[in-house]
Amino acid sequence: MDVPLNEFEESGLNVPGHLYLQFGSPGPGLLKKVATMMKTGMNLYQERHRHEEALQYGCLSGNGLLRLELAKFLTRQYGQVVERDDIFITNGATGGLDSLMKHFFTRDHVIFVENPTYQTFARHVVNDDQMRVVPIAMRDDGADMEELEKSLESLPPVNLTSRRPFRAAMYVIAIHHNPTGICYSPEKCRKLVKLARKYEMLVICDDVYNVLNYVTDPVDPDKFKFAPQRLFAYDNKQDSDYKGHIVANGSFSKFAGPGLRLGWYELPKRLFVHLEDSYFIESASGMMSYSSTIMTDVLSSGMMDEHVQIVRKQFKVRMEKSISIIQSSVSKYGVKCSQPSGGCFLWVEMPEEVTAEMVFPVAQNKEHVSFIKGELSSVNRDFPNCIRLSIAFYELPDLVEAVQRMCRAIEKVLRQVAGTVSINNNTKHSHTILDGAVLCKNANRITV
Ligand SMILES: Cc1ncc(COP(=O)(O)O)c(C=O)c1O
Repeated sequence: MDVPLNEFEESGLNVPGHLYLQFGSPGPGLLKKVATMMKTGMNLYQERHRHEEALQYGCLSGNGLLRLELAKFLTRQYGQVVERDDIFITNGATGGLDSLMKHFFTRDHVIFVENPTYQTFARHVVNDDQMRVVPIAMRDDGADMEELEKSLESLPPVNLTSRRPFRAAMYVIAIHHNPTGICYSPEKCRKLVKLARKYEMLVICDDVYNVLNYVTDPVDPDKFKFAPQRLFAYDNKQDSDYKGHIVANGSFSKFAGPGLRLGWYELPKRLFVHLEDSYFIESASGMMSYSSTIMTDVLSSGMMDEHVQIVRKQFKVRMEKSISIIQSSVSKYGVKCSQPSGGCFLWVEMPEEVTAEMVFPVAQNKEHVSFIKGELSSVNRDFPNCIRLSIAFYELPDLVEAVQRMCRAIEKVLRQVAGTVSINNNTKHSHTILDGAVLCKNANRITV
């Protein structure tokens, strides 16, 4: 029987010879290493415990030993103190975010998001949850705080209770942003915390790319520097007006494997009680008990630290190589590419006469490569001339081939458009209609 075994097979995104630049998670080569680590972790666990103990219901905020080992691991990875008591285990960043939205917010709340933002969240809060979403423009150092404050000033009144303690929420990816790669500056982080306190807004910060920082020490190029300080640490518990307005929403998906479905919050104390009291936590007795026990040993053995080093080395090379291909082949046409210091994505901006919608069919049908259209990262469908591509899935040879194919597709469309308009002259004309623009089944299915 032909049964799909993963999202790629399920969506038909596994056509032989086709390359997919939309897959934003580690590919088979790196997952193989994680599989070996998980086996070793299980063996280590069984040296001290009976296997069946791992199958019992767990603790409300997660396995206590995992919380401890994770706090130590993150402290080593971030170069900043992470406390065990702040950690609450989740089933990945998606589950973490969804629980917070469902638990603390209703359709009467305003949800601010960056523009652009993580495309799957952008689509679902608008479509599924019918929430009132307000996009805030991204600048080079984070979301535009003036624009945010203007919107906060006009928030409708909300009756605050201990169960609904916030007037609004903001969803951000402050370090190695998806899709732009931007990191918030310290000034922006301080301002965001200030606004969150002033307007009783909860800021949920997806910290899923923080350990994937590729800046190296100038003296020792094998030594990686730490990513900038995470937003959660700016909400200082010693401040006289501290109540806890920031949640860090972390995940093992991007540096280990998304199939683990394991993540964590760093969570203000006042929110712990409410979540522990919720149906899904109380009835399940916490999240992910089984994989938590194995992960505890993987972390305490130091295997995950070594693995993260390997991932960072590989991703750094992949990112640099992809940027250099884009620059050497299409920057002469005015195509710009982001220069991220970490994370999984490149954000490619084409001259405004050319849209991703025009490039996609050429890439898909003629070059056999696909990517995510920029407008899907925006609740307003802005950025039609942008493309998001991931460097995380393929090893270097396939990635190089995929990026070259994508650049060829861009070049073909640029040349075609140049036949009817003059690129970069700021005048809009109608576009050439491309032949053969037939999308294959599920070509538009978005994957993370
Ligand atoms: C910003 C962001 N948050 C969350 C996720 C999903 O994470 P998880 O697999 O932990 O649910 C992704 C995946 O691409 C992402 O880019």
